[in-house]
Amino acid sequence: MTSLTRIYSNLPKLNEMEFKELLLFVITLCLSALTSPQDSCGQRPLVAPPGMSRIVGGREAPEGAWPWQVSIQIQSIHHCSGTIVSSLTVLTATHCFHKFRSISTSHFRVVAGLCALSAPGDQTQIRSISKVQMHEDYNDVTSDNDVTLVLLSSPFAFTDYIQPVCTPHNVTHELILNFSQCFITGWGSTYYTGGQTNRLQEAEVELIDRRTCNLMTWYNGLITENMICAGLESGASDSCQGDSGGPLQCYSEDEDRFYLVGVTSFGYMCGVPRKPGVYARTSRFAAWLNTCQTASAPAAHGLHTGLISALLCVPPMLLLNPH
Ligand SMILES: *[C@@H]1O[C@H](CO)[C@@H](O)[C@H](O)[C@H]1NC(C)=O
Ligand SMILES: *[C@@H]1O[C@H](CO)[C@@H](O)[C@H](O)[C@H]1NC(C)=O
Repeated sequence: MTSLTRIYSNLPKLNEMEFKELLLFVITLCLSALTSPQDSCGQRPLVAPPGMSRIVGGREAPEGAWPWQVSIQIQSIHHCSGTIVSSLTVLTATHCFHKFRSISTSHFRVVAGLCALSAPGDQTQIRSISKVQMHEDYNDVTSDNDVTLVLLSSPFAFTDYIQPVCTPHNVTHELILNFSQCFITGWGSTYYTGGQTNRLQEAEVELIDRRTCNLMTWYNGLITENMICAGLESGASDSCQGDSGGPLQCYSEDEDRFYLVGVTSFGYMCGVPRKPGVYARTSRFAAWLNTCQTASAPAAHGLHTGLISALLCVPPMLLLNPH
């Protein structure tokens, strides 16, 4: 930031050639900053696209397979999972924070680039939390609107091991994407099951339509429009492989990207037929997400890419004005 500011203040000393180059540079930066949120997301530099072979029942995730997955910790103990949606924001479940409102956010931290919980490596980045934006209409009885946006005190630096996921723009977009495969990931520590694994686990699941999931023998009408069910065809539910607040992510073959389709919300323990995992349906929260991210950006202590782009985008306009 300081170096960019310095470039700007040095402008009068530049000759015309240098000036044109600088202008081009700044405009390019602006354009890339403006398009970046959905331009570079949902891709995993270290791992090939999912193959056709199914992962039934869960397994250890290859390193770098889920670079948007984070561990949200209280006093350095894994508490919930979350998903990176931008360098400064992580999406998780409201139930991860609602009952813990009395705990100061200073006791929480967000850890990215983590494979084994017990062994953070060179690729790990740790951030503190500057704000927790719970959904205003969260209902702790029905679990409706179980989404929360966590604003970090400073942005993650994206690497091969740390990347943002894509999010669907709306419900129609979610359908158009025609996902071929969906996966749940987590360290298995939910408050529903208690068990915890050290290495990040992954399991393949299938999206289950709401009508089926609401059948009397399934969830009997508990599934709202803001929720989506996912589990295994076989009926052996994989919800205990998941993790509160963590991602239900689906692969779009057309776009060769992963989208965050759901946020792990509730569900019965593993292996209960017709009781698949229930997820907050992110396509229903696209507008909320946009508003929150925009509103919370100036509150950050660190430099937000949006803020940088806003600042960078001012000079060309000023410079192009006639004197
Ligand atoms: C939904 O998102 C798609 C893809 O971005 C867009 O083309 C469409 O206009 C959106 N529909 C509505 C109703 O906002
Ligand atoms: C959706 O994807 C499947 C393969 O996964 C393909 O057979 C089908 O034609 C696709 N549908 C559309 C509308 O693109």
